[in-house]
Amino acid sequence: MNKCDLLPVLIIALAHVTSALNASYWHSYPYLGVPSNGARSPCSFLNTLSNHGIIPNSGHGISFRQLYSPFHEAGLDNTTSKLLIMDALSRFGTLGSDGILRFDLTDLNTHASGANRSFAEEHDASLTRNDAFWGDAVTVQPANVNNFLSFSKDGKTMGMYEFAVGLKNARMASAVSNPTFLFNYDLAAAFDSFSHAALVLTVFGGAATNDPRVSIDVLKSFLLEERIPMNWTPSQTAVTSALVNYVASNVSITSQSLFPEGI
Ligand code: HEM
Repeated sequence: MNKCDLLPVLIIALAHVTSALNASYWHSYPYLGVPSNGARSPCSFLNTLSNHGIIPNSGHGISFRQLYSPFHEAGLDNTTSKLLIMDALSRFGTLGSDGILRFDLTDLNTHASGANRSFAEEHDASLTRNDAFWGDAVTVQPANVNNFLSFSKDGKTMGMYEFAVGLKNARMASAVSNPTFLFNYDLAAAFDSFSHAALVLTVFGGAATNDPRVSIDVLKSFLLEERIPMNWTPSQTAVTSALVNYVASNVSITSQSLFPEGI
């Protein structure tokens, strides 16, 4: 075997070592749950980080530096991590006397309305929570999540199609029950919703393919309990903004085509 033959072997070995390191990062943070008077958001990912004390367990005073490492360890590339975090900080961050911007998880609970929207806002027709119209858009609703998981075709995994069906159904349910529902006129809410689906698919399903699938066990742990899934290994292929946008637009197109009226 010459030096060139050895290269692929070395690359594969290195990938396994990196994979083991990433997994040990996540599993070195035990689940702490929500402390009394802890702040939580409508975001399964940020709540999960907080529930494990990766960002403050209290849910208060979250900075760029605290978020960047877990985003990186989850497989998100530099640009995507920075865009997501800066979007939240620029909307909700308060400048401390030390010159550092911080936000609380409850800051994300502001219900989206009207213009001037961003990625980091709570909106109607979520997969995991009730609409704000019903008074609480933060508490996970197991019935909503289980309804979403029931769209899995093989009973073991979910991909872009199943996410599209789940989002379509959530929109239909809101359209018939919530008199203040405005999702169909609100492109920012729609983009946010499909982007979150794409983030879940790529972070938890992997970025090595254009058609990632996430296991139901991983989704149960993440969406229902807001816990780091035991059997999850972060993607070794970086999750790029290009991939997230590609997956988001596919989920969006599929979802719209399932519902021609455009809701
Ligand atoms: C700084 C980065 C992030 C911010 C500010 C943020 C913010 C939010 C907000 C405001 C919501 C509520 C949307 C709604 O009303 O349904 C949300 C939901 C959610 N987010 Fe995030 N998010 C971030 C990153 C992520 C990442 C990286 C993931 C996945 C890996 C993720 C997964 C989710 C999920 C699963 C939901 C629930 C969606 C639903 O119920 O339909 N988020 N996030």
